[in-house]
Amino acid sequence: MNHQEILTKTEQYISEKFKNEFSGHDWQHVNRVRKMALHIAKNENCNLFVTEMAALLHDLDDWKLKADDSEINSLSKDWLSKMNVDKQTASQILSVIDTVSFKGAGVETKPKTIEAAIVQDADRLDAIGAIGIARTFAYGGSKNRAIYDPEIKYEMHKDFDSYKKGTGPTINHFFEKLLLLKDRMNTQTAVIIAEKRHIFMENFLEQFFKECET
Ligand code: NI
Repeated sequence: MNHQEILTKTEQYISEKFKNEFSGHDWQHVNRVRKMALHIAKNENCNLFVTEMAALLHDLDDWKLKADDSEINSLSKDWLSKMNVDKQTASQILSVIDTVSFKGAGVETKPKTIEAAIVQDADRLDAIGAIGIARTFAYGGSKNRAIYDPEIKYEMHKDFDSYKKGTGPTINHFFEKLLLLKDRMNTQTAVIIAEKRHIFMENFLEQFFKECET
């Protein structure tokens, strides 16, 4: 199979797999991340196949979508071997996927490769701006979280575990994660896009709290 065939098959596999996913990590999210990663990649010197494959597979084994984290990356690993992707390329793709998920405000996941930097940026860009706002409330709803509770203050999570177990209202998530993302972009292309999306979220929050007070 050539790269194009593998990409097409992977797209079919992922879109089918995420068909009934409604917590903000649906196929449209994956497809936006893939397109954004390829857009960022235009300005970087990187392996396009690794970048696109990692973008397509980045949420497949995500801890947020699973009951426990016993099988780290096992679905992606199985899929890559089924597609006969050579060992070296497969391990590059898996290492990108490892870097991508956000593990709490105090936990730095610095990308080691340009491909990881690109896919991490693309995934983080999809968590902010108008899309980010919509996805955040969809995810909160899927976890039975309140939209807003003035009694519950937000908290900065120092480690992965406390972030994972967080149960606060969705609006707190803006302060715990989303407003921090603008300063955590790796590439110049993403920095510029993040800036605009960040301002949009700030305006949204300002209006939100204004409406809560009246
Ligand atoms: Ni994602």
